[in-house]
Amino acid sequence: MKPDATPIGINPSTASAASSRIMVVLTAAVAALGGLLFGYDTSVISGAMLFLRNDFHLTDVQLEFAVGIALAGALVGAALAGYCADRWGRRITLLGTGLGFALFSALSGLARGLTIFSSARFFVGVCIGVASLVTPLYLAEMSPARIRGALVSLNQLAITIGICVAYFVDYQLAASENWRWMFMTAVFPAVILIVGMLFLPESPRWLARVGHRERALAGLRRLGRGDEAEAELDDVERVLSEERKDAPGGFKVLLQPGFRMAAFVGIGLAVFQQITGINTIIYYSPEILRMSGYPSAKAAILAAGIIGVVNVLITIVSILLVDRVGRRLLLLLGTAGMTVALALVGWAFHRHSTGTAVFYAVIAYIVFFGVGLGPVVWLIISEIYPIKSRGKAMSLAILTIWASNWAVAGTFLSVIHGVGPAVTFWIFASLCFLAFVFCLAFVPETKGKSLEDIERHWLKLSS
Ligand code: BGC
Repeated sequence: MKPDATPIGINPSTASAASSRIMVVLTAAVAALGGLLFGYDTSVISGAMLFLRNDFHLTDVQLEFAVGIALAGALVGAALAGYCADRWGRRITLLGTGLGFALFSALSGLARGLTIFSSARFFVGVCIGVASLVTPLYLAEMSPARIRGALVSLNQLAITIGICVAYFVDYQLAASENWRWMFMTAVFPAVILIVGMLFLPESPRWLARVGHRERALAGLRRLGRGDEAEAELDDVERVLSEERKDAPGGFKVLLQPGFRMAAFVGIGLAVFQQITGINTIIYYSPEILRMSGYPSAKAAILAAGIIGVVNVLITIVSILLVDRVGRRLLLLLGTAGMTVALALVGWAFHRHSTGTAVFYAVIAYIVFFGVGLGPVVWLIISEIYPIKSRGKAMSLAILTIWASNWAVAGTFLSVIHGVGPAVTFWIFASLCFLAFVFCLAFVPETKGKSLEDIERHWLKLSS
């Protein structure tokens, strides 16, 4: 990667620099609502499960189906999202996702039977899959290079806030057994997303790609680039013309020698983010703590809430660091720390230590995840692909995230019952160590580079 690349950022010399910065942050905050809905809708089901079972008289198999169907939808959504984002633009896709979230969240809450409920949750899942791609993509493409890490990581912050809010809403509504509002609460952020996206600009990079130069320029100006807007756009157009004219579009571009490496890095990071066990903690921490000897279900649920809050707070720390110390350092620190923390969780189970020992080790694990693999994986996969096929290439990585999530979350309880919790967490620790080696060997530093310079790095490998 070019070490001398000059980051293109907000021109501090313009009188309107401050208001431009506000515009960028506001745009990012509205778009990040896609992340919030992703976090909220994946987590809210856990608190609603019991009540659903009673109201709809569900068997175990039916309940598992009702819970898992959103994940199936997310896989479909992730597969479709890249195509939609490349074809119709990032803004329209995000707008459509907001509409989908509003409509199908309301329908999930109003459903009178399993069929309508599951269909609505499937489509909420599709929206989750689409949002998981388009939100970081849009954020990466509208951000100035020097603060891109922080702005894209707002997506992860929003995911963690969504998870926490879901815990809180479930907890509040559990007393009245009001599962319907657990789902319908998502309509509020969805409406804000819709209204916000009506006013936000389209991604200037996508506009440049489809040949709308003037609109791209106007968008960059609205996003505070001032005098630098032309230079930034020229660079985008230059890199578009540097892409070989006869180069294939779509997924095939990832078979070119340089981009093959980008595909490998993105897919590798996607797999490692999930197979290192994050969602065993996010989805099952009350069960894990109960297994380790926590005295009551209530104490275990409270501890799970604390884990959720720590996850939010540490993401803020990562946001503050990512554009200063870089992506690689955070990934290396994060995966190394997760390895040690998971080894300790296994050790605590092995020694039959108290539940408190497991709790502290799990907190350490969340801290290291939240500083590295959590936010940085989403960031890197939104940065490293060529503009021509960015959406479709991201689809592949994000599909991998959802498929790995499904594989790990779906087998975790059987594995724990098969080999015991100590060995299970040691397996995760070994996978974390592999993640560390992978990051050390393959992940490039993208801090401060424009997306175009990152693309040139791969193009050089191709030539
Ligand atoms: C992961 C999710 C996870 C969340 C927890 C995200 O980066 O992709 O699977 O539930 O972090 O904070």
